[in-house]
Amino acid sequence: MSSWVRAVPLWLCTMTMTSWAAALPEGLVDLGRPATESEIAAWDIDVRPDFVGLPPGSGDVWAGEEIWLAQCASCHGDFGDSNEIFAPLVLGNITEEDIGNGRVDSLKDPAVARTTLMKVSTLSTLWDYIYRAMPWNAPKSLSQDEVYALVAYLLNLGYVVDDDFVLSDTNMAETQARMPNRNGMSLDHGLWSVSGAPDVSGSSCTADCDAAVTVTSYLPAYAMNAHGNLAEQVRDWGPYPGLWTAAEPEQLAAANVVVEAVLAPEAALTAGGCSGCHQMAGQLVGPGFDAIRVKYAGQEHAAYLRDKIANGGAGVWGSMPMPPMPAVDDDALQQIVAWLTSGEE
Ligand code: HEC
Ligand code: HEC
Repeated sequence: MSSWVRAVPLWLCTMTMTSWAAALPEGLVDLGRPATESEIAAWDIDVRPDFVGLPPGSGDVWAGEEIWLAQCASCHGDFGDSNEIFAPLVLGNITEEDIGNGRVDSLKDPAVARTTLMKVSTLSTLWDYIYRAMPWNAPKSLSQDEVYALVAYLLNLGYVVDDDFVLSDTNMAETQARMPNRNGMSLDHGLWSVSGAPDVSGSSCTADCDAAVTVTSYLPAYAMNAHGNLAEQVRDWGPYPGLWTAAEPEQLAAANVVVEAVLAPEAALTAGGCSGCHQMAGQLVGPGFDAIRVKYAGQEHAAYLRDKIANGGAGVWGSMPMPPMPAVDDDALQQIVAWLTSGEE
């Protein structure tokens, strides 16, 4: 590689489009073309802490809840409290004093679980992140109004705003003034070290590495490769290598089958009135679906279950009877039974 190629990034910082062609060595002047206005606009979606870049729009808590339940809850939990995929977004452990001080006091206590809303200092970051990256399996699919609504919902879950709150481009700054940890960001320390000088040579992450890292969260199979193969995007040394998320075509086909079989037919269960007595895990009035699925894994149980759901019965799990459920239509029954017999996840 000739030396001018390596020098390009340095010149780029100060060069204008017009000086570009003239500065290139002989024979390379016709390489590429300047990006068009609309190409730049399509990438230029960042929202800065001073709200430069924030598009107009608005959304309220209730609209946010609806979108949340449809598009976010499967990974983050109904109330943003799930620890399954990554750390919880909200747990409600923010106090009125924190909001007053702009500093979340419980962050000083290592025993308290940390959430996104406890840590994030700038509202713009929450808005920007959701707009560009979520839902994980379909990034950039949300409209601007939907993002306002979702942010309003998350703030409401954290008691930062009231139920009737409407977030919009005109009150973002005012809302920023209530961010619980707005004064919690400090810039006067280096990466990895909060007390010493910046670790610009990266020595603390190449020495004293953790011996092994246990993965404590996972993505559902259908969302694994939504952002490309993470292993190829993250360094492959040190304690936190990227997870291998790409699948071979055969694996992908197999994963799709598993996912179809394993995903709970939530709509059918809700419409069928099952959720009143059964929850996914653990006994309610009837046994948890987790226990039922373990007991009846395998196609050979399908006919029995179809009959039991339609006609009811008692005595298998206790004396409490399950009433007949004749209103569940064939399609729904089919889906429910296929899921119940599909085996453990
Ligand atoms: C398929 C699973 C999935 C779905 C659906 C999903 N997310 Fe996420 N979300 C993730 C994962 C994984 C991360 C962590 C990504 C990372 O760190 O690179 C994340 C991170 C986030 C974060 C940042 C957390 C932090 O502290 O860094 C926010 C905020 C968020 N999601 C909001 C949403 C919203 C709003 C929706 C619905 C529109 C949504 N998510 C839907 C998987 C999902
Ligand atoms: C009024 C409460 C109630 C409702 C509503 C209800 N169930 Fe049940 N279900 C029970 C009880 C109680 C049992 C335990 C019965 C037993 O021990 O035989 C049970 C058991 C089951 C079993 C295990 C059967 C066995 O023999 O091991 C399945 C499968 C099941 N329910 C599915 C459903 C589905 C699907 C729906 C919705 C269409 C539903 N239930 C609605 C109370 C209910």
